[in-house]
Amino acid sequence: MIKLTRRTFLCSAAAATIPSWANGSPSILRSGPVRLQVLPKGQSATALWGFNGSSPGPELRVRQGDTLSLRFENGTDQPSSIHWHGIRLENAMDGVPGLTQPLVHPGESFDYAFAVPDAGTYWYHSHHQSWEQVARGLYGPLIVEEAEPPEVDADITVTLDDWRLDESGALMGGFGNMHDLSHAGRLGNFAMILPSQDSVRLGDRVRLRLINTATARIFPVRIKGLDAKVVALDGMPLEKPRDLTDFQLAPAQRIDIIGDVTAQVDFLFVTQDGFHDMGSLEIDGKNPAPATSEVMALPSPGVAMPGTTPDQNLSLRMEGGAMGGRHAGEDIWAFNGVSGLSDTPFATFRKGETAVIDLMNDTSFAHGIHLHGHHFHELDEDGSPGDLRDTSLVERGALRKIAAVFDNPGKWLLHCHMLGHQASGMKTWVEVI
Ligand code: C2O
Ligand code: CU
Repeated sequence: MIKLTRRTFLCSAAAATIPSWANGSPSILRSGPVRLQVLPKGQSATALWGFNGSSPGPELRVRQGDTLSLRFENGTDQPSSIHWHGIRLENAMDGVPGLTQPLVHPGESFDYAFAVPDAGTYWYHSHHQSWEQVARGLYGPLIVEEAEPPEVDADITVTLDDWRLDESGALMGGFGNMHDLSHAGRLGNFAMILPSQDSVRLGDRVRLRLINTATARIFPVRIKGLDAKVVALDGMPLEKPRDLTDFQLAPAQRIDIIGDVTAQVDFLFVTQDGFHDMGSLEIDGKNPAPATSEVMALPSPGVAMPGTTPDQNLSLRMEGGAMGGRHAGEDIWAFNGVSGLSDTPFATFRKGETAVIDLMNDTSFAHGIHLHGHHFHELDEDGSPGDLRDTSLVERGALRKIAAVFDNPGKWLLHCHMLGHQASGMKTWVEVI
């Protein structure tokens, strides 16, 4: 296993590479080979896959309530599809081969069109052989703007990723090897931020939209140089902004932060023995009229609140993996003794039913559990609905209770977003009729 030590875990301390994100939304997303400067400048760039020539792919920006429509063209040599992570969309557009659409073979295309009901920070990524395709770079940000966005001087998307590279800077193969699958997944040996702009002014009020696009890495993050509040998690506004402290971001999770620049903004990877620099937003000038108002809550989301008595109480036990994880399923990981998708869903809901689900982690690893097509509340200790999320990090041995109103008809995946775990059994599905 690659240990996170100063020697093997190198963060690119050079000024972060700015992806060539276009403004606005393209009407075609074409996957194919790209290059990204992960190693410090002057050393070789890494061959990856991306969309429209870059990884991350172009930032898609739409207004809340708009319809996003675009054609996905598969320019790689593997079948693929695109999933719009966190969007409460129409089931047929969810991008899950075998459940909601056919595979898009090399050279083929698929047209996606769907309304985006919620403002917030989302992302898109390949949903086929994703432990490899996402690790190769097939993802990008999807930003849904509020009807009246909060006033900021800069609205900056920051993806966090790690890559497993050899000394020449080439992406290492061995995708989906048994060791990665049965342990924490494919952890990289290089990590950095990819911001949509690389400098800010002193005194600027900025909105940062962080997205963890890694297939396995849980990022423990400290942000310096910002006097800021957390305003949203997984796209969903918090009722009350919270002070920004160190935080963890599991694969697929997002966090929105609004605050004022007090110094160069550093993104640090927190370890027991110190910090690794993942990149910075440098200071370029001074804002002559810095904002003085308080950071306000974003408009509250239109997600249905679960009733006090759930229609269904369910439990989902995470099982398997290395180091003692036992279960009756046929692959490395399982939910409730079953590996992978069975013919019948884990649960069936009549539209509008509320369920409380106990997510029980009976393994030696943390898992980030993602539900498609819905957001759910993480329940607080006293059982009251807490943060709204689409991906919940459940530490090893832990129990997390969630509650959701299943009001979006269709067949929806429920899986671990450590993508190697998903591939080797840790996934199931629910149906809303
Ligand atoms: Cu972000 Cu099923 O995935
Ligand atoms: Cu997992």
